[in-house]
Amino acid sequence: MPRQLFVTTALPYANGNFHIGHIMEYIQADIWVRHQRMLGNAVDFVCADDTHGAPIMIAAEKAGVTPQRFVADIAAGRKPYLDGFHIGFDNWHSTDGPENHELARQIYRDLRDNKDGSLIESRTIAQFFDPDKGMFLPDRFIKGECPKCHAKDQYGDNCENCGAVYAPTDLIKPYSALSGAQPELRNSVHFFFKLSDPRCVEFLQRWTQDGKLQPEVANKIKEWFTVRSNPDGSTSEGLGDWDISRDAPYFGIEIPDAPGKYFYVWLDAPIGYLASLKNLLDKRGQDYENYMANPGLEQYHFIGKDIVTFHTLFWPATLHFSGRKTPDNVFVHGFLTVNNGEKMSKSRGTGLDPLKYLSLGMNPEWLRYYLAAKLSARNEDIDFNADDFMARVNSDLIGKYINIASRAAGFITKRFEGRLGEVTEDGAALLHLLRGEVGTIEQLYEAREYAKALRETMQLADKVNAYVDANKPWDLAKKPGQEARLQDVCTVCIKAFRILTCYLKPVLPALATQVETFLNIEPLNYANIVQPLKAGHVIGSYQHLMQRVDIKQLEALFEAPEPVAAPEAALPGGEAIAPTIGIDDFAKIDLRIAKIVDCQAVAGSTKLLQLTLDVGETDDAGQPRLRNVFSGIASSYEPAQLVGKLTVMVANLAPRKMKFGVSEGMVLAASHTDEKAQPGIYVLEPFAGAQPGMRVH
Ligand code: 2FM
Ligand code: ZN
Repeated sequence: MPRQLFVTTALPYANGNFHIGHIMEYIQADIWVRHQRMLGNAVDFVCADDTHGAPIMIAAEKAGVTPQRFVADIAAGRKPYLDGFHIGFDNWHSTDGPENHELARQIYRDLRDNKDGSLIESRTIAQFFDPDKGMFLPDRFIKGECPKCHAKDQYGDNCENCGAVYAPTDLIKPYSALSGAQPELRNSVHFFFKLSDPRCVEFLQRWTQDGKLQPEVANKIKEWFTVRSNPDGSTSEGLGDWDISRDAPYFGIEIPDAPGKYFYVWLDAPIGYLASLKNLLDKRGQDYENYMANPGLEQYHFIGKDIVTFHTLFWPATLHFSGRKTPDNVFVHGFLTVNNGEKMSKSRGTGLDPLKYLSLGMNPEWLRYYLAAKLSARNEDIDFNADDFMARVNSDLIGKYINIASRAAGFITKRFEGRLGEVTEDGAALLHLLRGEVGTIEQLYEAREYAKALRETMQLADKVNAYVDANKPWDLAKKPGQEARLQDVCTVCIKAFRILTCYLKPVLPALATQVETFLNIEPLNYANIVQPLKAGHVIGSYQHLMQRVDIKQLEALFEAPEPVAAPEAALPGGEAIAPTIGIDDFAKIDLRIAKIVDCQAVAGSTKLLQLTLDVGETDDAGQPRLRNVFSGIASSYEPAQLVGKLTVMVANLAPRKMKFGVSEGMVLAASHTDEKAQPGIYVLEPFAGAQPGMRVH
């Protein structure tokens, strides 16, 4: 009976592009999923953007867009990475999708209304509030002086200088990292998931210690049932309750029957696994409830070691006490370091840029192969090392595996019209041995022991190469009368290559497809590999399957990006802003509202218009005094357009004698410096209500 599997990777925060750590996790899971499909199992492999929470809300605000727009923009950039590295999710969704809102609210209600007693409790807690921003501050957004070592500007949860762990309220002179304001302690009602409830403790002890988890993970978790570290650095016994609510404003899902209260992002994030699955099933017209009700359904999550608590305590408890199926397992991997460098932290994913890797024309399957060659079932860190990468790809993958095909296929196509022959006696033994390993390879992939599966496969490739060296097809090709033997030896090589390709297929899916085309065979799987190709089977002509890694590519990959020259200061309107002046300088310019009482073309000038302006002045006799101003705006206005309008003039500019008369001031108008490139002059006009003579400040 084929198994039905539901597989996920951790949902990445939608506040940045993928870094190599994400790609490693996706490749690890993708290999496992492909392996399952080769066994004939049905798999739904999904992921989504983890969209909620204060940091994303704040980042969106800084970017001047709604959080929805912000996360949509990040989501739009996902595809080139996933396609580029052959990561075949069946669905990519968002924790802000309607399915997640609905599921999270329903799961909460089920926890709250648990028939054996509610698992949700509300409590009033005191928290720092930013009076300027009008919001409660997450710990990361509170800074101040460390209470221990007095280092300034430390975060609200721990000191980067002395390592002390404390509560934000312990900080000396705390301030909001958002506004700089001094935060106030305010009370607020929060909702807690009662993890300390004996039912929870009993369930989680069983769930985490029943042998399914990796031993090193289970051992670590054991400690959490006995001691727990508190925010103030002290310790308490056993599991603490989990604060699952946050106050508005918060980008998240509103808690039922609690207006203004939202789920803490880590409550709804894993529910996003189910939401993405539901979204996929809806698209396929399949019923979600039915799907989940299948007792045979298996559920697996691939995650990094930094989020074990959420996935082995909070998540199974959330599911179990809301009456849902719990995961069959959670597979934890370590961090990826690059060239012995720092770990790929979530915020500083530097070192190996996945898109740069692709843009340099580096083969994505080199990376898949290399990472697989390092990955085991253990939760341990692995290092990407450039020299090691080149050696493994060039010597193992190409030197040992690809070369088998390149050495044999040419003879078959050129000398035998692509037709396979019989197998030699020693060849038959070799192929028997290769096929006999299928069970071992399957088990190693199943157990996520990819490094071992590849090592095993490369040892088999060594045996095939030893066969080639012993039978020397290049010598046979030169000897008359050895035609049949040449064909048979090369046939063994091709058949061996087919089996090895099957064993590498979870890791190298694109290459396997190429090989299937070239060999003219059905898609390879663990079952059909035992049926050998018949004599007379015709293969296609050999196309080069894989390039070697070029050291120059690696050099380019790790070359520090050219320091980006500060972009030439953008020149607004075509010219730099003038040097700073003081308010006193500005005050010297007397700007007044002026009414254009008359406007005439100037005979002899294509540029000038002659304006008669009223700025509310009178002469000694009390008569209105009008000003005569020549202005270079004829290219943009007909005189009649301006008559009767209000504008702004410089009223204290020294009169200037011009060819056509004296100009008594200047009208304000806007234009681009490069008038040819951006023609147009725009006379300023005040908002309605301004009166001639009013000063412009
Ligand atoms: O640690 C992280 O990157 C989280 N965004 C992972 C969430 S996994 C799941 F719970 F959604
Ligand atoms: Zn300190």
